[in-house]
Amino acid sequence: MSFPLHRMRRLRGQPWAREMVRETRLHKSMLIEPFFVGEGKGKREPVKSMPGVLQLSVDTLIEECALSQKLGIGSVILFGVPGKKDPVGSEGYAEDGIIARAIRSLKKALPDLCVIADVCLCEYTDHGHCGVVEKNGRLLNDPTLELLSKEGLVYAQAGADMVAPSAMADGQVRAIRQALDASGLETVPILSYAAKYASAFYGPFREAAQSAPQFGDRRSYQMDPANAREALREVELDIEEGADLVMVKPALSYLDVLRRVAERSPVPVAAYNVSGEYSMVKAAAERGWIDGDRTLMEILTSIRRAGADVIITYHAREAARILGGS
Ligand code: PBG
Repeated sequence: MSFPLHRMRRLRGQPWAREMVRETRLHKSMLIEPFFVGEGKGKREPVKSMPGVLQLSVDTLIEECALSQKLGIGSVILFGVPGKKDPVGSEGYAEDGIIARAIRSLKKALPDLCVIADVCLCEYTDHGHCGVVEKNGRLLNDPTLELLSKEGLVYAQAGADMVAPSAMADGQVRAIRQALDASGLETVPILSYAAKYASAFYGPFREAAQSAPQFGDRRSYQMDPANAREALREVELDIEEGADLVMVKPALSYLDVLRRVAERSPVPVAAYNVSGEYSMVKAAAERGWIDGDRTLMEILTSIRRAGADVIITYHAREAARILGGS
């Protein structure tokens, strides 16, 4: 008896067959859309290195979020571009700082939208590092924890549905958890940027948030791109400290890390499809070198296939349009 010819193509020939046996599905409810908010009114300033992304003011943020919500996006994450910066990032944890105000207005206007607040100081410090630094540029871990927990608390009190520490300071999840619990905010979840790499793919974000470090780089606190086992340790520690979700960031060059984390993590896993990953797609699509829509859907599907439960992506709206329906 001869071996049968295995006709793998039987289940590929028709749309209904492909739809029926598809292993990985994307849903709009998994997507989180990032927004940049600054001072002023009526602001819709394009971010040059991120076509389609805008720097907004609080009023236009509400309009844009309402549109996203109409398209079926259920969650957003906010980044602040403050009017003034100082060495300790005061605007990040001032009760009337840009993000605290944005959260209050947004929750009032769109109460059902999940508003996540990024908790970090790099957008608010004049030196652009993620916390307090010594003269030689070294990040001071424990003094930074105090400020981060203040910041997380202010955002949660303003009404944030979730806070997302991204400074990569050791102990930041525990510090924020303690601050929230001590103020009766024990129901606010923490989405921890657990495995955050020192990546060149953050370049366009730093233009959008005007947060490029003025000296040095972030390699003394963000992870070395060469390390995967260390990511598992970061995730384990953050879960121990009280993280409700853990994140791998960036996504595309770290799909292996994402897979390993997803296989082990007892809590849901997020992936951040970062600015540089977005801009590369946009730049190539603008030149007609690739099909932008197909590329972005392939990218988001691969991040999901690697194990992400939720995806933070600047493509959220485009994806929601393509996915259509409910
Ligand atoms: C830190 C933060 C950064 C990003 C998200 N949170 C910048 C950094 O670490 O330099 C980058 C996200 C992106 O590139 O899209 N607040």
